[in-house]
Amino acid sequence: MSGSVSEARQWARLMELAEIGGFAVPGTEDIGVNRPCLSALDRQARRVMIDWARAIGCEVSVDEAANLFFRREGTEPGLAPVLTGSHMDTQPEGGRFDGIWGVVAGLEALTAMHDAGVTTRRAIELVAWTNEEGGRFRPGCTGSMNWSGHTKPEAFRAILDGDGVTYGAALDEQLALEADIPRRALGGVPHAYVEAHIEQGPILEAEGFDIGVVTGIQGSRWFTVTLTGETAHAGTAPLRGRRDAVQDMVRAIVALNALTADPTDTLRFTVARVEVSPNTSNSVANRATFTIDLRHPDKGVLVAKGDAMLATIRGAVRDCAVEMVENFHAMPVPFDPLVTGAVAAAAAAEGLRARELPSGAFHDAQFVVPLCPTGMIFVPSRRGISHNPAEYSSPAQLAAGARVLTRVLERLAA
Ligand code: GLV
Ligand code: MN
Ligand code: MN
Repeated sequence: MSGSVSEARQWARLMELAEIGGFAVPGTEDIGVNRPCLSALDRQARRVMIDWARAIGCEVSVDEAANLFFRREGTEPGLAPVLTGSHMDTQPEGGRFDGIWGVVAGLEALTAMHDAGVTTRRAIELVAWTNEEGGRFRPGCTGSMNWSGHTKPEAFRAILDGDGVTYGAALDEQLALEADIPRRALGGVPHAYVEAHIEQGPILEAEGFDIGVVTGIQGSRWFTVTLTGETAHAGTAPLRGRRDAVQDMVRAIVALNALTADPTDTLRFTVARVEVSPNTSNSVANRATFTIDLRHPDKGVLVAKGDAMLATIRGAVRDCAVEMVENFHAMPVPFDPLVTGAVAAAAAAEGLRARELPSGAFHDAQFVVPLCPTGMIFVPSRRGISHNPAEYSSPAQLAAGARVLTRVLERLAA
């Protein structure tokens, strides 16, 4: 019932949710969103979604990882449901579309079916996964990793946010404040999973396509490196005797750049979070901690480069002790032809231009792949910008994506 998708309703819902954690960027027209997972803002946005979903007869439930589910019953409730969804948390300086559009698009599809009086054999479940971004608690995708059995819930409880709050405490608080929402068991085996998301890259816009038929997701590995030296007076301590953690961090990053240099520009290597102590300009740093985000579509390259990093850092530093922890790994995954075929067919039926492309960003879909046929739908992102208040996809582009999602869900649930 893609004809009942409403561009105006979907856009209004997105803009209403963008106000929860939204901020204006001075000197621009951009609206950013900072809505950390397991926060009061997150809960406020979830309540809004719950009201909208209940208004069309969906059953709401939450699991022990705080993944939030909305179920539209099918005519044969015993059959495995078709699952769709994405995440509602954002990066600290995120935009209005990354994640939340996939949840709102799922609701738009269910609303369109409701309005048109369509029934499906299988139930359709919409999920808002907990902590996809990893912006507050590293790593991301903790909700889908718990749900899929990739990682046990206990494994994440001790993770700290920037204020020293543990993931376990934040999760317990959220579940207590949502105790009125019926609990469901963690996990499940859906018939299929499809996630709608903005592309977050420049390809669809640059080549004039409306829809991306996502073929798979490249692999990611996240590490945290801590270099420990000794603090000293910046004015009196001779350079020769210093154990300067910042200078060693620079050496380490230069060596890692050489290790990861890729003439084909396929590999992604990012250092983007740095903490230095004591963080004062006239004391030599005794500790530097930095993150590494490594990505590649080829498992062999991802494993080899990631495994070589510790030795590379040890070989590069001069004076500091080195400690490296791997926080996250998600191997590259291919998507299933059942879903990619349904996405391509739906785009064609809508008269939209579609092309296949892989995802450079990771997504919760990565962790659903082992359980059921899985795929994703992309819509264009203006200038490919994401994780940035300037992130933008137009109401018409997002409505086209919601129409494709509606068709895919109907087909998979038929
Ligand atoms: C998810 O936001 C990612 O970093 O790919
Ligand atoms: Mn996302
Ligand atoms: Mn993101």
